[in-house]
Amino acid sequence: MAVIIDGKQISASVKDEVRKEVEQLNQQGICPCLAVVIVGDDPASRVYVNNKKKACAYTGMESREYALSGETSEEELLKLVEELNRDNSVNGILVQLPLPKQIDETKILHAISPAKDVDAFHPVNVGKIMVGDYDFLPCTPAGCMELIRSTGVSVEGKSCVVVGRSNIVGKPMAMLLLHANGTVTICHSKTRNLAEICRQADILIAAVGKAKMITGDMIKEGAVVIDVGMNRLPNGKLCGDVDFESAKEKAGFITPVPGGVGPMTIATLMKNTLTAAKVQHGLKELK
Ligand code: GUN
Repeated sequence: MAVIIDGKQISASVKDEVRKEVEQLNQQGICPCLAVVIVGDDPASRVYVNNKKKACAYTGMESREYALSGETSEEELLKLVEELNRDNSVNGILVQLPLPKQIDETKILHAISPAKDVDAFHPVNVGKIMVGDYDFLPCTPAGCMELIRSTGVSVEGKSCVVVGRSNIVGKPMAMLLLHANGTVTICHSKTRNLAEICRQADILIAAVGKAKMITGDMIKEGAVVIDVGMNRLPNGKLCGDVDFESAKEKAGFITPVPGGVGPMTIATLMKNTLTAAKVQHGLKELK
């Protein structure tokens, strides 16, 4: 029976650390500020944005919400991003994804100033993560690393399997595990023998977006299982990419959904916003 990793508690301690540093900045007359842009009325995005604003309030940072209609054009959104890039009172810019189909997401993400890119989605920041010398942490993968660290299980030399190859999670997750000296395998929809590969994993990261697709029989006895999935079941309940009930019988450590990775993503975003504020006030240099 696995130990359940408490993402809420670990994220609270990360946010408390950020809050302490924000208090020190406040004494120097600095208040970090995050601009959060949401386009349209996707209910999941609304929940995420509200949680990000709450975390800013908790850590003592300012958040400014820019809620645009679902009919907003790419040009209008680009104009807002450029204004926020120029605005010295804004330290971090986050454009909530997904964007409506008339807007090219890549164009928008590439328009955000790399120095304010607290999601670390700009290719300059992605490249720095790949090289292993970076200012902004990829929010979800860095949150997962923190959860793995909390178990006391070392990544070094271990077999790490990442299921999913998205730019937001799978690819940067693989890089962070590699930087920690894990032996990393990335699986995806074309992978053959997925179950067999997963069963080799000492550390298994599920980031595919398919409810309960990783079942107990795909998990090595005692493995660390990190579930990035956030799927809505027909009955309205949230569930991960891992079938928690069968997986917890095999895993050594496992994250729940909700209350696992989700809160860690936001805690990392707070760390990045603090970094951005320090950089822009000349208290830290960009790498
Ligand atoms: N949509 C889902 N996850 C994320 C994230 O980490 N950042 C942003 N901006 N949008 C998202």
